Amino acid sequence: MSLQQEVEALKKDKNAVILAHNYQRPEVQDIADFVGDSYGLSVKAKETSADIIVFCGVDFMAETAAILNPDKKVLMPSMEALCPMAMLLGVDELRSIQNSNPAADTVLYVNTHARAKAYADCICTSSNAVEVVSAMDSDSVIFGPDINLAHYVGKRVSKKIISAPKHGFCPTHHLIEPQDVEDARKKHPNAVLAVHPECQPGVQDMADYIGSTAGIIDYTQKSDACEFIIGTENGIIHRLKKLSVDKKFYPACDMTVCPTMKTVTLEKVRDSLWDEKDAVEVPGGVAEKARAAIERMIDIVGKS
Ligand code: 13P
Ligand code: SF4
Repeated sequence: MSLQQEVEALKKDKNAVILAHNYQRPEVQDIADFVGDSYGLSVKAKETSADIIVFCGVDFMAETAAILNPDKKVLMPSMEALCPMAMLLGVDELRSIQNSNPAADTVLYVNTHARAKAYADCICTSSNAVEVVSAMDSDSVIFGPDINLAHYVGKRVSKKIISAPKHGFCPTHHLIEPQDVEDARKKHPNAVLAVHPECQPGVQDMADYIGSTAGIIDYTQKSDACEFIIGTENGIIHRLKKLSVDKKFYPACDMTVCPTMKTVTLEKVRDSLWDEKDAVEVPGGVAEKARAAIERMIDIVGKS
């Protein structure tokens, strides 16, 4: 039996569903029931009737699925799949910024840990950050941990954005420099540039399109252009090529790889389904508060 067949058999046997992020290894994406961005994966996790969710992504994504599904088992095939950006915002720092800005609402990027989410008024993903921040009542919003996404939002809303922490960013996206884009444009003069809002402001300013991973996929599918320079984690290229076979995709920078995302392998997915260990657990009180903030985001997006 091939590894793929083993995974399929275990999945059926255990009434499990496999959710995978757009940055996952090609073979992991190909075995998944749903591949998507952070927002799409949260919604799928909420809707599933499976007993077990195998989450092929990083810690904060699996945690979000577990928070939305307190009665289901959410498995992380790799315990090394930890998002370094999510580690940047500690509760003490967040509480101190909140105490200094009592009138501000707090919107946290989904790339945070549950214990920080528990102190947020609302969560956002890159696909809805502008919408969520605009929906807050107050004129100032504490936003974190990504300063690059904060820059993207700040340019599109008429509210004061207070970054928490001051200099948080994704080490993978931050690697892409404007010079990389210029070099890629010289090599591919007919290509349009689609980037993630986790990229530096200088890269965002050069882009034809800025959006979440699902947004980038949708944009390239609908665009009349035939060639694209992609400014996000390079795992997305597999999906882009699969969905638009006649189009060409070039990474803006060859080094844009999220190492922890790649710790999830097909073998680990099989083992995870087999022994069911490493289920994500979020303490009840934290989960309840974080769930309210995540569901508020889903409500805001649903109403728009
Ligand atoms: P998306 O929500 O766009 O999939 O992004 C998640 C992420 O971690 C980007 O680095
Ligand atoms: Fe975290 Fe960046 Fe990896 Fe996304 S690409 S999971 S933000 S480290």
